[in-house]
Amino acid sequence: MNLRGCTITGFGSHVPDRVLTNADLEKIVDTTDEWIVVHTGISERRVIEDGKATSDLAVEAARRALDDAAIDAADLQLIIGATITADTVFPSMSAVLEHKLGANRAATFDLVTGCTGFVDGIVTAAQFIRTGAMDRILVVAGDALTRITNWSDRSTCVLFGDAATAAVLQPSEPDRGLLGWAMDTQGFAGEHLCIPSSGSAWPPDEKAIAENATKLYMNGHEIFKMAVRGVPDIAMQALDKAGLSSADVDWVIMHQANQRILDAAADRLDIPHDRVISVLHKFGNTSAASMGLALDEIYQDGRLKKDDIVLLVGFGAGFCLAGAVLRWDK
Ligand code: UT7
Repeated sequence: MNLRGCTITGFGSHVPDRVLTNADLEKIVDTTDEWIVVHTGISERRVIEDGKATSDLAVEAARRALDDAAIDAADLQLIIGATITADTVFPSMSAVLEHKLGANRAATFDLVTGCTGFVDGIVTAAQFIRTGAMDRILVVAGDALTRITNWSDRSTCVLFGDAATAAVLQPSEPDRGLLGWAMDTQGFAGEHLCIPSSGSAWPPDEKAIAENATKLYMNGHEIFKMAVRGVPDIAMQALDKAGLSSADVDWVIMHQANQRILDAAADRLDIPHDRVISVLHKFGNTSAASMGLALDEIYQDGRLKKDDIVLLVGFGAGFCLAGAVLRWDK
């Protein structure tokens, strides 16, 4: 079978207006601006408004992406959501979005792969597009992690922010758009990043609420080690599939969790730090949205040029890893 290419034809993101600075956090937990900046690279993050949900962030990002692609929501065939903070456990975020966008002909499903969600969404969409099954898919990756943050845990509450990002995927020539990808899950490490009481294993009860078990738990040390080991490995696998090497990469868009992880992975991949985009200082860790926010930074400021090679690498809850190589086609 002759496969088609699959490329991003429209792109957009959205962050809420409310800013939470490190100085604000100094008033909530025993921390300092200096500790947060030195250990993570984060200075501030955005927080969703009261009364809003992840789908409200997602709908804004989706409208921007649809405008950018000059596509009507009603012409979408599929919406793939990527989130761990859907408005409710079910229905999915993408089903809520289908209604809010007026995407009446679209099928929907969500991927629950945490911070790798943006890559997973693009790779999943590409399987429908490359085979000719579909022509217009919207991938929306968004999270409101501040809604599941334990505000008494200084080792996690300083990290997270809220955002959404969206991409329209359409057919292209085979040598454009997604050139190669790789995915892996190391499920044995799932317990290091989870909400202990959130599903059928331990439905939220009074004990869970008292122990903050309905909030995000992370063993930062373990996740840090797994990311530094796993990111270069999955990135090399994706580059290999694309028939490229790290020397061909113009931009690295990695999950934005910690500046030290970005730097360590870049060194292991032998990629100069100025090709590794970081928006950590202004948005923190925005989970599924983070790679999209970093990509949007160079898309909006004009650094990202047609034909540039972009390496996307995600890691997070699962423990999941995903890498994708794109030839930018806009
Ligand atoms: O998006 C999903 C993927 N997530 C990640 O990739 C996160 C990966 N992990 C990390 O980024 C880092 O492990 C953290 C930023 C979470 C923590 O940084 P660290 O350098 O690994 O700190 P640590 O956990 O080793 O803690 C060092 C010290 C501890 O104090 P003691 O035991 O040495 O006295 C902590 O209690 O820093 C303390 N500490 C803090 N101090 C001030 C932890 N958090 C804070 C804080 N402010 N916010």
